[in-house]
Order: sequence, then structure tokens, then C-alpha cells
Amino acid sequence: MEKREIEQSLLTRQDAMICSSREKKMAISDWLKEMLVLANRLIAREIFERYCVNDGVCLDVGCGLGWMGIELSRLSGIQVVLLDINRDVLSKARLNACSHGVNVRCFPLRADAHHLPFREETMNLIISRGSIFFWEDPPKALRDIHRVLKKNGMVFIGGGFGRKLPSNLKKEILREVKKAIRNHSAEAFKKWKKGREIESFRKWLSEAKLSCYRLIKDPFDIWVEITKT
Ligand SMILES: C[S@@+](CC[C@H](N)C(=O)[O-])C[C@H]1O[C@@H](n2cnc3c(N)ncnc32)[C@H](O)[C@@H]1O
Repeated sequence: MEKREIEQSLLTRQDAMICSSREKKMAISDWLKEMLVLANRLIAREIFERYCVNDGVCLDVGCGLGWMGIELSRLSGIQVVLLDINRDVLSKARLNACSHGVNVRCFPLRADAHHLPFREETMNLIISRGSIFFWEDPPKALRDIHRVLKKNGMVFIGGGFGRKLPSNLKKEILREVKKAIRNHSAEAFKKWKKGREIESFRKWLSEAKLSCYRLIKDPFDIWVEITKT
């Protein structure tokens, strides 16, 4: 599939992604904003196909503009809690859910990944893209994510662009992502790069004392699937 075809079939140009750290907004090009929307939506399709989720509640941690959770809700009818620490992106996520007709099933919530405001075993599915690299204490957040996951539920956390985009396009996107993070700060870039190493994920999972997991790594993506029995 050509890049233009993919864009035409999946993209809406109505919103802009704001990648934020706590203090400073990160400047990213319009092209990259669109590509990140596209990647989020395609990853949602992948999640839908892989886990066949049709009901229950899904939590999208560090949802940003909400595209992954919104797409998953459109495809499956599942209820989605769109959780982010940043108030500004959440209000945009709310508008995005409205414009895609899923505001009755998508609920924006401002909260911290390290202190999830839910009872034990309430979530059927927990997803998160591109956020773990910015968390203060990933093992602590992973423990809390595991706490709120239902038995036999599934967690899918990580970063990248999924399997559905062509590699040449992923290469271009990755180049732009790196540029944006590097321009933001050298420290943010170092943290982001380190976070994408498989050893970082292993260390976080071990510190979180989680053993039921599978790591998925390729040149563009790193994800962990966690289950609870
Ligand atoms: C790079 S953006 C990714 C957004 C979206 N998931 C995506 O893939 O386009 C990272 C997001 O994680 C959020 N975030 C960072 N630390 C967080 C925390 N401790 N709790 C909740 N959200 C957090 C940021 O506000 C930001 O929206």
C-alpha cells in the first residue's frame, strides 16, 4: 500500500498531536503529527485483531490526543478510559472522541500512571503507546497497571509504529521523532533512547516483580505484553 493511500484511507487532518514533557511542549512538524495519528490508529487495529476485545473496559495510559483508544473503541465497541497527566491534551482527546462519535464510550481522565485511581482488577485491557519512556518510575507504574488489570486481562505497552506501516515510512517517521526529541533536550533524548532498549524493559519488569510477560522487539518497535492469571 502506498503512503498516500494509507493517509487517505485513515487520516483526518483535524488535530495536532502535542507531545509534552512536564514543563515544555515539544515542537513537531505537521507531517509527523499526521504520521503519529496514523500509527496510533493502525496500532489500535493491530490490538483489535490480536486480542479480539469486544466488551469490557480498556485503559489507555498516557493517551495523548487519544487516537489509539478512540480507534479501538470505534472498531470494537469497548469502553475506553483515556488517561493522561496533561490537561491540555486530554481536552483535545475529548474533542477527538466527540468528532468520531465515540464520546459515549471514551472517558478522558486526568491522572498519573503511577497512581491509577481504580480498584483492583477493573480493566480488561490496558494499552499505552509512547508514554512509558517519560514516566518517572516505570516499575512503580507497571505494578499499578498490573494491580488494576483483571485476571486473564491483557496489557500492551511500548512504543513504535506497529506492523502495518511500510518500513520505509517507519524509517522516515523515526528520523523525525528522533529529531524532535533531540531538539527538545539532550536529556530527554538520552532517556527516550535508553527506554527503547530491551534491557530497560527487562529491568523495569523485574523491578516490578512481573514475570508473566512477552517482549516484542524489532528495529522500530518495542512492546511488552503482560498477562495476569
Ligand atoms: C509521547 S506522548 C504519547 C501520546 C500517545 N499515546 C501517542 O502515542 O501518540 C506521551 C504522553 O504520555 C503522557 N504522560 C507522561 N507521563 C505521564 C504520567 N506519569 N501519567 C500519565 N500520562 C503521562 C504525556 O502527557 C503525553 O501525553
